[in-house]
Amino acid sequence: MSRYYIGLISGTSMDGIDAVLASFDDGCEVHAACSHPMTESTLTGLRHLVQHPDEAGLARVGALDTALGHDFAAAALAVLEGSGIAPESVHAVGSHGQTVYHSPTGPQPFSLQLGDPNIIAVLTGIQTVADFRRRDIALGGEGAPLVPAFHQAMFSHPDEPRAVLNIGGIANVTVLVPGTDVSGFDTGPGNTLMDAWTRLNRGKPYDAGGDWAASAEPDEALSEALMAHPFFARPGPKSTGIEDFNMSWLQSVLDDLRQPPAPEAVQATLCNLTARTIADSMRRACPDPGTLFLCGGGAHNRTLTRQIAEGLEGWRIEPTDTLGIGIDWVEAAAFAWLAHRNLAGLPGNIPAVTGASREAVLGSVFCG
Ligand SMILES: Nc1ncnc2c1ncn2[C@@H]1O[C@H](COP(=O)(O)OP(=O)(O)O)[C@@H](O)[C@H]1O
Ligand SMILES: [Mg+2]
Repeated sequence: MSRYYIGLISGTSMDGIDAVLASFDDGCEVHAACSHPMTESTLTGLRHLVQHPDEAGLARVGALDTALGHDFAAAALAVLEGSGIAPESVHAVGSHGQTVYHSPTGPQPFSLQLGDPNIIAVLTGIQTVADFRRRDIALGGEGAPLVPAFHQAMFSHPDEPRAVLNIGGIANVTVLVPGTDVSGFDTGPGNTLMDAWTRLNRGKPYDAGGDWAASAEPDEALSEALMAHPFFARPGPKSTGIEDFNMSWLQSVLDDLRQPPAPEAVQATLCNLTARTIADSMRRACPDPGTLFLCGGGAHNRTLTRQIAEGLEGWRIEPTDTLGIGIDWVEAAAFAWLAHRNLAGLPGNIPAVTGASREAVLGSVFCG
């Protein structure tokens, strides 16, 4: 009989909690998946916390940890509902939580995720594996990205060079070339700047299809100024977050320009920034073309994916659906798999990717 796992994650976009019910008998089979909305007040509190981390009071952080624990538990129960699988049949939940601060370099590195796993375990009755990043950080790694081990296990091919690109709020890539070590790193902003700019100027959560970005030409001066961010030139292992790429940074770059571009030209530039930094780092990491598999919400942005394809001549570009996992569910499936790895006593990190001194079993178990 299959062992079922539930994977839960809310990424930097905070567009909802992704939940999948999966098994790993032979590759990864996704039996059910959903995106579960966060409670409105929790989302408001969360947005304020990540935009103004210096104003966060401890009481507010603690309360959000609890509120998110409830929302994550609800997401786990929602994915089970209608799947025909009872909670008792699920071996474990793997919960990434919600990153509220990622600071992997510096004298006291840390990455902080909220969504109390005790609450998930109690409300679902299912043992829950969580806190996946901090063991890797304790071993000198960045604690991110963690999905490359899953990409390698599920998507690599014995002969064909492949890469997997996840375009969330932040974008990350895994390069899988036969006969060489896996590499993987964050490339920089995925959707986060485009989302923030769209919210500010159009009152919508994102630029559907990338149509607004397609309505103007990128602005060269802005593009140059954004590309000067030191993260892009840094060699890997590297990871980033909305601490680096956010509206305050964008606004400060815009303020320094002699002539501010029109809002649609800013959007076109931000879209182009994501595409260009992805294609540049892909070409550096993998000079021989192969197949690039896309996942994450940014894979729905036609303008973005067209520009990525234009920057990667010779590459075949496909959604991860062709390998059996829908573009919206790869990350949550990865955390279900990391729970499975933890309980099997197997490592979940790739030291060449995160910079950790060695492989390690990731996460802690909270009994159901
Ligand atoms: N139809 C669409 N057109 C353009 N962008 C989209 C579309 N659907 C989703 N997105 C983008 O994907 C983001 C969510 O992607 P996701 O992979 O969940 O990111 P994260 O892991 O950061 O939560 C949205 O915020 C939005 O920017
Ligand atoms: Mg998301």
